[in-house]
Amino acid sequence: MSKLSHAQWSSKMTFILAAAGSAVGLGNIWRFSYMVGESGGAAFVLVYLACVALVGLPVLVSEWLIGRRGQKNPINTMAELARKGGHSQAWTLIGISGVVAAFLILSFYSVIGGWSLSYTLGSVTGAFSGKDADAIGGLFNGLLASPGKLLLWHTAFMLLVVFIVARGVTKGLEGAVRTMMPALFILMVVLVIYGMTTGHFGEAMSFMFNPDWSALSGGVVLAAMGQAFFTLSLGMGIMMAYGSYLGEDVDLISTARTVIILDTLVAILAGMAIFPIVFANGLSPGEGPGLIFVTLPLAFGNMTGGTILGLMFFVLLTFAALTSAISLLEPVVEFVEERTPLTRVPATLIAAVAVWALGIAALMSFNVWDAPVAFGLNVFDLLDTFTSKFLLPLTGLGAIVFAAWCLDRESVHRELSLGATGNALWHATSRYIAPIGVIFVFVGGLL
Ligand code: PHE
Repeated sequence: MSKLSHAQWSSKMTFILAAAGSAVGLGNIWRFSYMVGESGGAAFVLVYLACVALVGLPVLVSEWLIGRRGQKNPINTMAELARKGGHSQAWTLIGISGVVAAFLILSFYSVIGGWSLSYTLGSVTGAFSGKDADAIGGLFNGLLASPGKLLLWHTAFMLLVVFIVARGVTKGLEGAVRTMMPALFILMVVLVIYGMTTGHFGEAMSFMFNPDWSALSGGVVLAAMGQAFFTLSLGMGIMMAYGSYLGEDVDLISTARTVIILDTLVAILAGMAIFPIVFANGLSPGEGPGLIFVTLPLAFGNMTGGTILGLMFFVLLTFAALTSAISLLEPVVEFVEERTPLTRVPATLIAAVAVWALGIAALMSFNVWDAPVAFGLNVFDLLDTFTSKFLLPLTGLGAIVFAAWCLDRESVHRELSLGATGNALWHATSRYIAPIGVIFVFVGGLL
């Protein structure tokens, strides 16, 4: 979205498509499934669902509330609302940490987007057909072991993002989102049905939904909350920026509910598709970030019509990753545009080159630079952990606290039009339950 044309979303549907385009991405399929696998299954899933409902929804509504009032980019919106309300200018930190988070996330997101592109090509060439688990694992490890290949795909993915953002055609993608998202959804259902034929569906369901609470720790709860922020694109000012384009007539709570349900469904379906394949092939759920790349190709390589379905899947996954990546690059570009005399195209290039360079450090974590750089984590894990477990929850906390404590209460009630009980509920959740929950999880996770 260009700051020059501060138009409004033409309709509620367009807005939902844009928000869902940002929310649904690699986070739902790649990150959700590997986090579930790594964090012991159902206990993680249930805590994640609770975080989405109790924290995700109020933070999402808060970001939109703030954005719709400010009508500017997140930093200026926070500066102006704080000034108007007589609050400290320190609130602009929310906008700034959002831009930083978007920058850091995009650097490793693009590396995984590159994997998805590479697997799109692999599907075309039939690289997976008839292969067993060992061979498929070998393909993936071959990709990881080669910094050159990873760099090529990371670069290709960033180029696609830059091309779209530099041309300012982001809005033109909504038409595509309208068809690609339902297609992705249907494909996930097909994969779940395939999962039912593996003979290990029950085991997978119980892994995902029958909790072994002993797997739960402060760290797992923090990871689940981080995943909730990541998957809903919260704590980055992105939804705040979107809110600034939102017409007065749009009902924030019901819109948030729709976006959240869509996003969560995609993630749950992804899990239901992936874990039967994991168990049927004797793979480990805790495989790590490669989980979908060593499971789904196995399914595609061995099912009827798998070649074409696999191709469709990786094209759709790449597309979903692109729409999310675009929403990550936008705030960084806007920041550069605003703070320097640069116009859109050079600003996009500078932002993208910086992201790309950091991405190189991230991709080397899988091969030549697989060494701890801080807190015992390599660059890739550090970027992922620092953003999802630290920056996003804290920025989101800032947004909800500002919306609940600093915006005029009466006008918020009028805006949300919830009725007396709804108001009381909103009040309790946004002022106390969600912020205290975030602080609790945060502190508990770090101890
Ligand atoms: N929500 C996106 C996903 O799940 C990732 C993303 C995070 C996009 C933050 C924008 C901002 O893939």
